[in-house]
Amino acid sequence: MNLAVIGTGYVGLVAGTCFAESGNDVVCVDIDEAKIAALSNGQVPIYEPGLEEMVRRNMEEQRLSFTTELRPAVEKSAIVFIAVGTPQGPDGKANVEHVLATAKAVAQAMNGRKVVVNKSTVPVGTLDKIRDVMAAATRHPFAVISNPEFLKEGAAVEDFMKPDRVVLGGDDAEAIALLKELYEPFVRTGNPILVMDNRSAEMSKYAANAMLATKISFMNEIAGLCEKVGADIGEVRRAVGLDRRIGPHFIFPGAGYGGSCFPKDIRAIIAMGDKDLKMPLMRAVEDVNEAQKKLLVEKVKRHFGAKLSGRTFAVWGLSFKPRTDDMRDAPSIPVLESLLQAGARIQAYDPEAMNEAGKLFGDRIHYAPRNYEALRGADALLIITEWNEFRRPNFSRIKELMKSPVIFDGRNIYDPAEVRGMGFTYYSIGRKDG
Ligand SMILES: NC(=O)c1ccc[n+]([C@@H]2O[C@H](COP(=O)([O-])OP(=O)(O)OC[C@H]3O[C@@H](n4cnc5c(N)ncnc54)[C@H](O)[C@@H]3O)[C@@H](O)[C@H]2O)c1
Repeated sequence: MNLAVIGTGYVGLVAGTCFAESGNDVVCVDIDEAKIAALSNGQVPIYEPGLEEMVRRNMEEQRLSFTTELRPAVEKSAIVFIAVGTPQGPDGKANVEHVLATAKAVAQAMNGRKVVVNKSTVPVGTLDKIRDVMAAATRHPFAVISNPEFLKEGAAVEDFMKPDRVVLGGDDAEAIALLKELYEPFVRTGNPILVMDNRSAEMSKYAANAMLATKISFMNEIAGLCEKVGADIGEVRRAVGLDRRIGPHFIFPGAGYGGSCFPKDIRAIIAMGDKDLKMPLMRAVEDVNEAQKKLLVEKVKRHFGAKLSGRTFAVWGLSFKPRTDDMRDAPSIPVLESLLQAGARIQAYDPEAMNEAGKLFGDRIHYAPRNYEALRGADALLIITEWNEFRRPNFSRIKELMKSPVIFDGRNIYDPAEVRGMGFTYYSIGRKDG
């Protein structure tokens, strides 16, 4: 099939590339000229495991191309995906301006019937607005379908190629049949394609993220209680997760959730409640998360005192989670800002996010080229993102490099008894002597 994907960010680029991987001819469109120039040279501007190889392979096979020209891309495509950003607006609502502008531009470029599929996360009812905007801009027939995206950054290609489910929202039978055909290679192991009305499809995306964020805030709240009463969240998590009604996934305590989706989607869901529904649970999820992002620095100040001038902190992990370079709303940002404000010097290392971190912090922090180099002369090490390479380090080497052997582990990746046995002062989340 001939497809166009508008927006080549984490979602659009992955979707377009994976559709090409299953044999379709895909044109990816973006307004960002630098991004399109880089992609046209086979350079992928984001880090996502497996993506660059797949982009290059499909470009070589001439199934995947990149352009800033929307009109020809739309003209030759039967299906047009919208995957542009929906950033948070000042009132907490998701800003759908780019989605609607794209819908209008697509409508104006149409040369016959098109199926327009929205993948961006949008407030419930936006698909109806897309339909209205398009109807006002074209005389050609079209169908609009909601197709929320559930991929996880860090495993986006894997998730797209083998989704737990595909959700299609809309009532145009022909368009639904076409999309089922398109997705068929991705659901060969029997995972379902769920067809529903467009509002339920839009809500499914928010409900999924709200549930995931709730799980995290729930466990973080219980972790705080564990610290207070002398229980161990690791033991509690295992015991709780074995209940089949609860399950073991996504119940790890930590330094708070971040990223381009959970924070903005929770605020958007609260905003959707408007004046009628206060959404108290969602507000609590957000409050707990805001408090959790401060916890690591509170522990640092409890140990070193409120003034941190003259102190040097090594930081391992900056991206909002492992296996991505995405720094959007990363918990590392408020942690580093608080440490800097208290006068500390930061020596940070991240396997992939150093460039993105550089855009945010400039020369206010020092960037170590390797993880051990961040430790040189440090008063303490803070672990904010649980990259695999931090899990089994050489602790003697760590101790030798640091000024004092103190670790603040925001992701509970070490065994407290083991690291304390090696002479470290060790703080983590929700465990005895936190
Ligand atoms: N990142 C994720 O993990 C994820 C997962 C599921 C859903 N989503 C949702 O998918 C959407 C896209 O997210 P993302 O992370 O890929 O965003 P992104 O910011 O990485 O990418 C958006 C892209 O759209 C482009 N764009 C903006 N306006 C445009 C226009 N008028 N025409 C063409 N291109 C335009 C931007 O230049 C950018 O390259 C959002 O609604 C997001 O909430 C994201």
